[in-house]
Amino acid sequence: MKILFVSPDPKPQRWITLLQAALPDAQWIVWHADLPPQQADYALVWQPPAELFEREPGLKALFNLGAGVDALLRLPALPRTLPIYRLEDAGMSAQMAEYLLHQIAEITRSMPVYRQQQQQQIWKMQPPCRRHEWPIGFLGLGHISQKAARLLQLLEYPVSCWSRSPKQLDGIHSYSDDNELPAFLKNTRILINTLPLTPETAGCLNQSLFTQLPPNSVLINVGRGQHLQEQDLLSALDSGTLQQAVLDVFATEPLPAEHPFWKHPKITLTPHMSAPTLREETVRQITDKLKALAQGLTITGEVDRQRGY
Ligand code: GLV
Repeated sequence: MKILFVSPDPKPQRWITLLQAALPDAQWIVWHADLPPQQADYALVWQPPAELFEREPGLKALFNLGAGVDALLRLPALPRTLPIYRLEDAGMSAQMAEYLLHQIAEITRSMPVYRQQQQQQIWKMQPPCRRHEWPIGFLGLGHISQKAARLLQLLEYPVSCWSRSPKQLDGIHSYSDDNELPAFLKNTRILINTLPLTPETAGCLNQSLFTQLPPNSVLINVGRGQHLQEQDLLSALDSGTLQQAVLDVFATEPLPAEHPFWKHPKITLTPHMSAPTLREETVRQITDKLKALAQGLTITGEVDRQRGY
């Protein structure tokens, strides 16, 4: 079995060593632009170039080295019937839960005020967090965000979600369908976007959505930059519809130096680090799936090409 590793990672050998140890019978090959055709069976990919599919028409499946497959599905050269498997959690949900809890506690526990107070040697307790005043709403609740939702609910924040198909999670109010979106937004003060990027969801974080949130709401975007209408966010922050935004993903990454988000006083930004792909966990998940396929078993995590995730 020949398997290609196709990724912009500058140190692919770190992956190959682990992959070879986990599945020594396979021949692991790092793909690069000058590599002649290999007649490979499978490829592990992150943002692969289109030439891959011209040179390797015999691929039986792709394993995406991340959760989001939007960049992959945008490639016109991607064969229509080629099965694609995305990462399912693989250590990402714990990282995401931690990131979201941290960003939320920053806001609800007045941490920026305490940092300022320390500078001025002021000993003063701010009003305690009244959790019922901070209802949290997840836009999309898949593998990556369910742990965060459960954690925040355990910490007694009101938590709800809106998703394409209704979710059954104890104590988490689930909204679905377009007609339930207004009620979901009305009952959300911290809106967390974890939707997959598809033609239907692109640009969904826009003025019409922001104005349906209660005044002084907070937007946290850990989905994709293309979900956000950037100008609408700036207007919502200026008008007070939103009191703050936490952004981990951007339409252009790295965020260009002259971008107004960098220095905006109401924006906290991080460089797409909320839930990075973890090597050991990813290698274990993908090689387990390859072993299952070799035994003729079916595996989970296949992307529905029609839905786009
Ligand atoms: C990260 O953004 C991912 O899709 O895994």
